[in-house]
Amino acid sequence: TWTMLNIVEESVETVRRQVGDGRAICALSGGVDSAVAAAIVQRAIGDRLTCVFVDHGLLRKGEAEQVERDFVAATGVKLRVVDASDRFLKALDGVTDPEEKRKIIGREFIRVFEDEQRAIMADGPVEFLVQGTLYPDVVESGGGTGTANIKSHHNVGGLPEDLQFKLVEPLRALFKDEVRRAGEELGLPAAMVWRQPFPGPGLGIRIVGEVTRERLALLREADAIAREELSRAGLDRQIWQCPVVLLADVRSVGVQGDGRTYGHPVVLRPVTSEDAMTADWARVPYDVLSRISTRITNEVREINRVVVDVTSKPPGTIEWE
Ligand code: XMP
Repeated sequence: TWTMLNIVEESVETVRRQVGDGRAICALSGGVDSAVAAAIVQRAIGDRLTCVFVDHGLLRKGEAEQVERDFVAATGVKLRVVDASDRFLKALDGVTDPEEKRKIIGREFIRVFEDEQRAIMADGPVEFLVQGTLYPDVVESGGGTGTANIKSHHNVGGLPEDLQFKLVEPLRALFKDEVRRAGEELGLPAAMVWRQPFPGPGLGIRIVGEVTRERLALLREADAIAREELSRAGLDRQIWQCPVVLLADVRSVGVQGDGRTYGHPVVLRPVTSEDAMTADWARVPYDVLSRISTRITNEVREINRVVVDVTSKPPGTIEWE
């Protein structure tokens, strides 16, 4: 739309003025905020922005490709991709406690990002760090600005305070729906622009139990099926998000084909919400649930049971970990 076009052009101009002929870096997460922020800064300063995408191996099916291929094609952003999945999995080895998982994932993310930062700075100084901070985040954190004053409690992208960068925050005045419209205006892939919330620690906190490569592969398949069927049923805009959770340490008896199985359950956690502070379980039509269940148990051999979480928040959280 007209106004969105103006907003985008204005923030490109603001970034251009702020950064001058300096250089900037930006960590991409696969989410809409960092993508839109990076696209705006790219328009403003071109190749003097370097984006870093740390693939921690905990993303859903197709999400790494969306960043590496589609986002780059749409924006022309200069991108460094780090496949760090081995490193993250090694650090998570044997860990089952949810907060411990979050801490480890956050810590490893910072280490990998700092290595990249050093490599980028070998070509010359970098003064600016791009962050996808939205207006509600600004309000929530008391309106502070300046150096890396980042809401670190939630995002894997939360960077340490001793990184001495000036922040570039082109989304500071925008609400989420405006960010999405800006993303459309900038020609970003629809799957990125309309992505439902997804936690920074990714599938790492949707495997109840240890995180292993095999378990991630199972969950990734089951999750892709659930997302595909919910989209096909036209429910994306009604549902806030639908975590799929692998109960990796639980086994139950089943019968598949002509044999007895002893497999794992997955939990579907579809919720409706306004802001994730409270949520209700979503009344997904039975036939949609039925298709999801049939497909998961047919297509993902090791999963022999699909259950639906019908708990509101509170008392349940949206995620299981
Ligand atoms: P809960 O489970 O607390 O989730 O009801 C509320 C919202 O926050 C997301 N979430 C996270 N996002 N890092 C994130 O970036 C995290 O560690 C994290 N934990 C939960 C969750 O997906 C939901 O949208």
